[in-house]
Amino acid sequence: MTDLADALAEAVGPLHVRTDDLSGYGTDWTGRWVGHARLAVAPGTAEEIGKILRICVDAHIGIVPQGGNTGLVGGAVPDGDVVLDLRRLDTVEVDPVAGQVRAGAGATVAAVQAAARAAGLRYGVDLASRDSATIGGTVATNAAGLRALRLGDTRAQMIDVEAVLSTGAVISRRTGLTRDNSGYDLPRWVCGSEGTLAVVTAARLRLLPEPADRATALLAFPDLPAAVAAAASLRREPAIEVLELMLAAGIALVCEQQALPAPFPVDHPVLLLVEATAPADAAGILGALVEALPGVADAAVGVDAADSRRLWAYRELHTESVSRVGVPHKLDVALPLPAFASFVTEVQPAVAQGWPEAAVWMWGHVGEGNLHLNVTGVDPDDEDLDDVVLRMVAEAGGSISAEHGIGRAKQRWLPLVRSAEEIAVWRAVKAAFDPTGTLNPGVLLPK
Ligand code: MLT
Ligand code: ZN
Repeated sequence: MTDLADALAEAVGPLHVRTDDLSGYGTDWTGRWVGHARLAVAPGTAEEIGKILRICVDAHIGIVPQGGNTGLVGGAVPDGDVVLDLRRLDTVEVDPVAGQVRAGAGATVAAVQAAARAAGLRYGVDLASRDSATIGGTVATNAAGLRALRLGDTRAQMIDVEAVLSTGAVISRRTGLTRDNSGYDLPRWVCGSEGTLAVVTAARLRLLPEPADRATALLAFPDLPAAVAAAASLRREPAIEVLELMLAAGIALVCEQQALPAPFPVDHPVLLLVEATAPADAAGILGALVEALPGVADAAVGVDAADSRRLWAYRELHTESVSRVGVPHKLDVALPLPAFASFVTEVQPAVAQGWPEAAVWMWGHVGEGNLHLNVTGVDPDDEDLDDVVLRMVAEAGGSISAEHGIGRAKQRWLPLVRSAEEIAVWRAVKAAFDPTGTLNPGVLLPK
């Protein structure tokens, strides 16, 4: 063992320091981001994290916090750094009286959802990677997912975050009070900072009442403008909690890769997956809304929970199906809803012009103008493709990152959506939280 490994073993115990077989820590889920971990250390407490940080600060070595490694922009991929594996911090404690959960950074989103359900409540953030994605990672990236349209992103669930600064100091509001307006809310700043300000060790999150009834439907449309107009109309309805858009090519890919039958007897250019929740008769409410919608060419209704899961599969299996046909360029962007349909139509020929061999797969959280544009068949390192797409997004008044963050993937394009003055303030904030630049070097802000 090296001096560094010895010092870390002293802090956390030798069983929790790994110096071999580190490839799992060095590569992200998609295979797009490949780095190199110097070693991995798995602390069991915030105090141990403080010791690890002090050791790395003294040794001038970067620390990359990692949970489920399900992020899609390279934000948890090391570049010769020490990986801080947070998965041992997996406690989940529900406080049913307060309607809150305190979860360790390493608890999975699915574990938090299950604990909430057992208490008759629910956690508002849901995403397809729920079984691997951790609370620490979702706080660090302000994950949004499938229900943010109505329930909000991770920041909206946050009561408090406990996090360790590179100085070893722990920040937390400690009270669990939902109203605490006493000045700068540093824990909240940590949310969405992509591991660059502090290491999240635990979060206190709000839980919501479980709706008594829910209903799911898959709606088919003849074209994009009709589907987007339907989404714009449905998002005004308080009962609608999910509005997910899919295109014919993605549906065909999912059916082929996952051996699923086509959802309708004939193919339709655009589909919307819609879910309604209500105290009673969600199916009746959803049915009436669909009936009144112009442009619906066909509809499949989930008659029970198993049937709803069958409809959800067409949406949730997109990511995995795309990864089966190649390492994708993952361009998670946001567009103003009025520009959504024309962007989707125009971006395809723009990509085909420069990269005739490219396959473009698009789907997303259309209720919030969030489009997931994935491209396979192009060298994963060919940034010219990303440049063409992200410039089109900025010109349409959109954002280069809707929910996945900046990571190592999109720093180059930050000036398209953030001013030099803003980035200068970010650098000052970074210096105040992490004066030695130890935390997640090279992520979010260029090194
Ligand atoms: C999704 O909504 O499917 C996720 O953000 C993952 C992805 O973009 O692949
Ligand atoms: Zn998404």
